Amino acid sequence: MKVKGISYRTIWPSADGKVDIIDQTRLPHEFAIMRLENMRDAERAIREMHVRGAPLIGVTGAYGVALSMQHHASDAALKASCDLLVKARPTAVNLRWAVERMRSLLSSLPEGERAHAAWNEAQRIADEDVEINASIGRHGLGIIGNTHREKGSTVNILTHCNAGWLATVDWGTALAPVYAAFDAGIPLHVWVDETRPRNQGASLTAWELAQHGVPHTVIVDNAGGHLMQHGRVDMVIVGADRVTATGDVCNKIGTYLKALAAYDNGVPFYVAMPSPTLDDTMSDGIMEIPIEERGEEEVCYMSGLCDDGEIRRMRITPLGSPAANHAFDVTPARLVTGLITEHGVVAADPNAIRERILERR
Ligand code: MRU
Repeated sequence: MKVKGISYRTIWPSADGKVDIIDQTRLPHEFAIMRLENMRDAERAIREMHVRGAPLIGVTGAYGVALSMQHHASDAALKASCDLLVKARPTAVNLRWAVERMRSLLSSLPEGERAHAAWNEAQRIADEDVEINASIGRHGLGIIGNTHREKGSTVNILTHCNAGWLATVDWGTALAPVYAAFDAGIPLHVWVDETRPRNQGASLTAWELAQHGVPHTVIVDNAGGHLMQHGRVDMVIVGADRVTATGDVCNKIGTYLKALAAYDNGVPFYVAMPSPTLDDTMSDGIMEIPIEERGEEEVCYMSGLCDDGEIRRMRITPLGSPAANHAFDVTPARLVTGLITEHGVVAADPNAIRERILERR
């Protein structure tokens, strides 16, 4: 996607054999590139959320393995790097998927071939992500196009968190259909949940939609139900960090409440899911998916651009009030209208997931 007319991916190999990323902790007020010199930089970038979003942290994990193989390609070094990277964030299964793919390929090769093969494989995973998301965009375009034909006017789509191109290598998952429909000339408008506490909607989704010229409005996290009751949301499209073999969807905290409101108001609730986000080892999302709990300072403090042009951080809770910060929640499959995947729109039920996705792996 383009930033001020220049095409970017969110992560790319630098000319001198390192890895560059867009530093997402600096957006929306500053567009900054950050260099990952080694595997520890990659692990820190994931843990501290300089990169975030399930597909992108998977690709960063793969590049992290590749960076480590440039220095030490022994079995012990491979194990140590993979074990460290996979723990950087617990909920998005894409990280484990990508790191284990790297581990499995590299452990079958002699040490001398690992550095080169690791680099190529990380690049392949990145390129595949772009292809998958483009395909999700094409399938989602069909849904938005049908709604536009039935409704005859602007399609209003609500999204939560950031599942746009910043959360992937390019295109995004939930926003890929939005970009495809917008580029096809379908009139649309996106309601952007701010997504407390880290504000990925307000800071990242709003920024990338604005870069592409897509009409959008930022709303507070609690506004979605009200808008749905008044017929102002035609569909919800969100991303996912992990989807079970039964179709339970784990995504950013607050997604479940949007799904409940959508269900109560008869609004279709779609989940854009690239196949690496499917975890076929799990069947009960609520009981089995590990939910990341982050530090309370993310809830107690906010930061932003002040009127004097300085970015400052300020406390919004009383000193001494404890805060809890559960980063994700699980939406049961029964609330999901469909999974928009690279293989088409798939029902969130075990049989459809097995036939349409798992048997094609
Ligand atoms: O904590 P984050 O910002 O990594 O959470 C991101 C999300 O919850 C996204 O919706 C999800 O990873 C899908 S990204 C295509």
